[in-house]
Amino acid sequence: MKKLGVFISGNGSNLEAIIKATKEGRINGEVALVIANRKDAYGLKRAEKYGIPTLVVSLGNCGAKEAYEEVILKALKEKGIKWLILAGYLLLVGPTLLNAYKGKIINIHPSLLPAYKGLNSIMRAYEAGEKTIGVTVHFVDEGMDTGPIIKQGSFIVPENSSLEVVEAMVHDLEHRIYVEVLDGGKS
Ligand code: GRF
Repeated sequence: MKKLGVFISGNGSNLEAIIKATKEGRINGEVALVIANRKDAYGLKRAEKYGIPTLVVSLGNCGAKEAYEEVILKALKEKGIKWLILAGYLLLVGPTLLNAYKGKIINIHPSLLPAYKGLNSIMRAYEAGEKTIGVTVHFVDEGMDTGPIIKQGSFIVPENSSLEVVEAMVHDLEHRIYVEVLDGGKS
């Protein structure tokens, strides 16, 4: 049984897909803590709905990334968390967590990396007229969306589809592919 800590900054639809999959036995694991760097992250409400413990830590209140991550690390250790799962977490992971969880931090990004790193990836790919759009699950390193790729998935953009439709397709694919990746691997 994998003990997961899921990091969010906002909506949390990937978080909810992961929680559901653990509850339904599609991931042999448990979301033991949800960590948010913003108290208004909607994903916190999703976590609470499932009775998952949450931790809100603001980087601003801690003053520096190291102090911020030390607070989080303490909570992760207390809960025996083995894997850190980033799901719409908008901060770069710093050395404190990278060193403590070497090879155990995973992110999902809504593009076929290395294309469209950073923010607004779906919109940029759509506006560039990409015929194929996809998502990437990858290990996290010190860069932005740069670590080794674990799995990618893609689809052909249907003719004349709106950005909203493409976004919905991307998120649907994300939810499936993230669960597939987390279901595999070791505990
Ligand atoms: C997803 O598109 C994810 O790939 C990216 O941020 C978005 C988060 O969405 N890193 P949600 O908060 O999981 O709904």
